[in-house]
Amino acid sequence: MGNNSKSKGLSRRQFITRAGTGAVGSVVLFPALGKADTKIPVDDNSKQKYLLGDNPLSLTVNGKKVKIKVKANTTLVELLRDHLHLTGTKVACNNGECGSCSVLLDGKVVYSCHMLALDAQGKSVTTVEGLMDGNKLSVVQQAFVEKDGLQCGFCTPGQVMAATALLTKNPHPTKDEVKEGMSGNFCRCGAYPKIIESVLTAAEKLNS
Ligand code: FES
Ligand code: FES
Repeated sequence: MGNNSKSKGLSRRQFITRAGTGAVGSVVLFPALGKADTKIPVDDNSKQKYLLGDNPLSLTVNGKKVKIKVKANTTLVELLRDHLHLTGTKVACNNGECGSCSVLLDGKVVYSCHMLALDAQGKSVTTVEGLMDGNKLSVVQQAFVEKDGLQCGFCTPGQVMAATALLTKNPHPTKDEVKEGMSGNFCRCGAYPKIIESVLTAAEKLNS
């Protein structure tokens, strides 16, 4: 990662900021969700054509109304990543076991790989891109960057979403409550000590 990021003129911290928080996704992809009733372009060579179906779906994604037709078996994460190009949300197990695909559904954490898109009918979905205020990271995202709460970064969007939901529900968590609250999100790199530190730091900042 070091060589690659260096060759593109990014410091490790800049790379982490972008890769780990969905910042790239936010900057590039928000225009696609900038209008109500977003028209989804169909590329014959992409998975989108396969995923488009006959079932009307209307929901809000990161504050924007989206209307689309999907197949009955399209999952929420397929809708987000393959239709709406919100690729900040990651897929690891694709089986409801690891938390990498965590998003907020009406403010509650859900595994988007384990939920049908049609079950989000009329609901509000927030992805990691939706936490940002323009180009500004949320307090939780910033805390993960400052405390290096990641290694490879693949689980990080899910960790950030879980932490955001946890701190909304419990603004003053103890270390044990953070461990419990984040227990649905696995990190294959074992970056747990830094992840916990990041969440506690975010809590401190939100309460100061
Ligand atoms: S990718 Fe959804 S829970 Fe693992
Ligand atoms: S930072 Fe690599 S899986 Fe968590």
